[in-house]
Amino acid sequence: MTIRIGPYRLTSQAVLAPMAGVTDRPFRVLCRRLGAGLAASEMLTCDTQLWHTPKSRRRLDHAGEPEPRVVQLAGSEPLVLAEAARMSVERGAQIIDLNMGCPAKKVCGKLCGSALLRDEALVARILAAVVQAVAVPVTLKIRTGWDHDRRNGVQIARIAEHCGIQALAVHGRTRADFYQGEAEYQTIREIKNTVRIPVFANGDIRTPADARKVIDFTGADGVMIGRASFGQPWIFRAIDSFLKTRADEPLSGAEVRDIIIAHLDSLYGFYGEETGVRIARKHIGWYCERCLPDPEPVRADLMSATSTASQLAGVSRYFDAWVGRESGKPVLGKSARVESGAGIAQENARSGGVAGHDTGAVRAA
Ligand SMILES: Cc1cc2nc3c(=O)[nH]c(=O)nc-3n(C[C@H](O)[C@H](O)[C@H](O)COP(=O)(O)O)c2cc1C
Repeated sequence: MTIRIGPYRLTSQAVLAPMAGVTDRPFRVLCRRLGAGLAASEMLTCDTQLWHTPKSRRRLDHAGEPEPRVVQLAGSEPLVLAEAARMSVERGAQIIDLNMGCPAKKVCGKLCGSALLRDEALVARILAAVVQAVAVPVTLKIRTGWDHDRRNGVQIARIAEHCGIQALAVHGRTRADFYQGEAEYQTIREIKNTVRIPVFANGDIRTPADARKVIDFTGADGVMIGRASFGQPWIFRAIDSFLKTRADEPLSGAEVRDIIIAHLDSLYGFYGEETGVRIARKHIGWYCERCLPDPEPVRADLMSATSTASQLAGVSRYFDAWVGRESGKPVLGKSARVESGAGIAQENARSGGVAGHDTGAVRAA
């Protein structure tokens, strides 16, 4: 099936979830190249006065990114969000995504993200203002509700469709759940039964078989993949081919090594020497956990590299050896630990987090 969002037809039913501290331009481009149908930016504050900071400037950088370029905005004031959306479009955004899914209490001192779900009237004002402000499609990311007693995802979806939102991504947890327990898909199924706009099911989808099951159960048009992409961006290719043909097309070890090296190279180009080494540590840790049989000693060694050259040389050495040993074995998701909250938080602590905000986002998003 083909998903359409405004003038865009997606080439895959599997899309990358927006993740602060992870879905920077290099990771988005990589995931798109490996089969993701869409890849939204990390959330950007709607306070345009902060857009000159190095972090926001990087988040606004879409050079060379495949179309459609999706910018996710976070905020709570309709007119401020509308203005931020207009300015994002001026700078190249082709789809505006609004964040009502993040459980962090405040962004820029104001309640936002999934906290907005408690105030349906405000949600409607925000959506209407942003849709009216821009000529490009506006999409929305939500949770299933505030808590188990106020699971109003279906009502929010109705409001969204009424206001002209063109696609909806639903994380199958309430705001109160944070990341605890398992995602539930019943509410997503009810949402899909209620609205006619494309719906992406999100939450705990870790394998191509999970994607199939969730789509079959919910009737969703597509799946949104977050943490399962850590250290295995090729999961999009795997899901896409499984959904299209039920075929499993594992990558060879050599292909995986080449993807990792190219990813590091693009991180260094994007962030420069010092920040590039730091940001790359997190991804290297995830690649080690996904691929290597005994990741800890390798990771510990690689974390000590302080220059891009030595980091890249170390990764090449270990992954060349791994290719030699493992050649022919299929690669997809050796380790589930990467997806646990603890695993992510530890990764950020080790790598020093990303640009201040992001360690918080890892715990709280
Ligand atoms: C590190 C991290 C950062 C996140 N940042 C954002 C964000 O900026 N905007 C957003 O809407 N959701 C954010 N999320 C939530 C994800 O988009 C997604 O809804 C959630 O991880 C559940 O999907 P998953 O089980 O496939 O990971 C973040 C999640 C993580 C783990």
